[in-house]
Amino acid sequence: MRAIHKASFTRPWSLEVFQAELAKPTHSGFALKIEPVQAPEHKLIAFILFQLIGEEGEILTLATRPDQQRKGYGRTLLAQSLAALQKAHVSRVHLEVASSNLAARNLYENCGFLKTGTRKGYYPLGDGQKDDAILMTKALGGKADGISLLTSGS
Ligand SMILES: CC(C)(COP(=O)(O)OP(=O)(O)OC[C@H]1O[C@@H](n2cnc3c(N)ncnc32)[C@H](O)[C@@H]1OP(=O)(O)O)[C@@H](O)C(=O)NCCC(=O)NCCS
Repeated sequence: MRAIHKASFTRPWSLEVFQAELAKPTHSGFALKIEPVQAPEHKLIAFILFQLIGEEGEILTLATRPDQQRKGYGRTLLAQSLAALQKAHVSRVHLEVASSNLAARNLYENCGFLKTGTRKGYYPLGDGQKDDAILMTKALGGKADGISLLTSGS
């Protein structure tokens, strides 16, 4: 997961951050693997992590290995997560995405997320520039009562 995160983000999560996030009881996720004959160490191709607090869900991170993008894996993981959150009676799912990240914004919009706000200059880009964070939400229509936590697939 760290290798994919590093290839995907300018500020990737460290090992400590992954460990801390995965240890939280509110957090869960899914991962997709393939079984390559040539390079068995490169099995993981995409993953998503999300959290569930009360009747609110939040997509924390989603990434597909660069050489496996545009094959439907991101959409599959997002759909699987939304289905799991809906099953857990979550009524709204939130996320934030960099304004310049058109691939992710397209994906989220195509999956029914609506823009709810903007955080100006939220993401440092490393060259003194900053990017806005776009806040998005999707209503799932669930109702929270007695949430049972999901089992991590990653
Ligand atoms: C965003 C990301 C997860 C999409 O993963 P993916 O597996 O390539 O996505 P999919 O193949 O399922 O694509 C689903 C839809 O997303 C949109 N999309 C994906 N890549 C796109 C691109 N390069 N340009 C424009 N739209 C794109 C399209 O609407 C696409 O549907 P379509 O192929 O029918 O047109 C992937 O580009 C990625 O890992 N990016 C780096 C990490 C990142 O930005 N994560 C999101 C942080 S909020």
